[in-house]
Amino acid sequence: MRRSMSSPGDTASTGGPDPAAASARGLKSLLRLPGLYSLFENLVGARRARRIFVSEYLKPSDDMRILDLGCGPAEVLEFLPARVRYAGYDSNPAYVSAAQRKYSGRGTFRVADVTRLDPPTPNSCDAVIAMFLLHHLDDRACRRVLGYASAALTSAGRLVSIDPCLADETPLLGRWIIAHDRGSYLRAAPAYAALARRHFRHVTTVVRHDLLRIPYSHCLMICRNAT
Ligand SMILES: C[S@@+](CC[C@H](N)C(=O)[O-])C[C@H]1O[C@@H](n2cnc3c(N)ncnc32)[C@H](O)[C@@H]1O
Repeated sequence: MRRSMSSPGDTASTGGPDPAAASARGLKSLLRLPGLYSLFENLVGARRARRIFVSEYLKPSDDMRILDLGCGPAEVLEFLPARVRYAGYDSNPAYVSAAQRKYSGRGTFRVADVTRLDPPTPNSCDAVIAMFLLHHLDDRACRRVLGYASAALTSAGRLVSIDPCLADETPLLGRWIIAHDRGSYLRAAPAYAALARRHFRHVTTVVRHDLLRIPYSHCLMICRNAT
């Protein structure tokens, strides 16, 4: 499901400014600052979500080659084994600088638009991760990212992603919070899976409602080409 770039409540129906929408916009632009983004993420419990993402779904081996698309400040490194060979790409230079400062020596970090990368070296990654990226991208951009990941992975490699999603079980408050996310392309789990199936033979989705301290629903995808 595609939402428009601006929230329906950006301006009141009278045409006057809507203070709630203005505050939401203000918060969203503040979250572009890496320090505030990490603080906000920790308050809602994103550290736990990342830990579970890694331990239950990514299951990294010690020397795995991991490419993180839309890596942000690369906070996932806190939960990855010290010896993984990690590369993170993100379009926000402030996030990439924060990652370089905090995780220097743990990987390489690059400012890049992940929808416009040159074709990858085949077999160059054991795992590609995309944490909270796909809901920022329209279908066409998602297909480019998923195609890139599929081409970069070894035959036994996998893409593991996580994004917000709406499901029947999502509580009302959770729906409201998710609807105000910074991403403009919120999808239900089957829609994320349909995009991935164009590039991967095997796609499994898991919907979780228990990863954050606040009511919220996530869709995790595990995508592979080998059985
Ligand atoms: C919600 S943040 C998630 C960051 C990180 N993966 C995490 O789990 O904290 C989404 C990230 O995707 C990045 N992003 C969005 N569109 C992108 C693009 N076209 N190319 C690269 N990064 C992009 C944003 O800059 C932001 O860092």
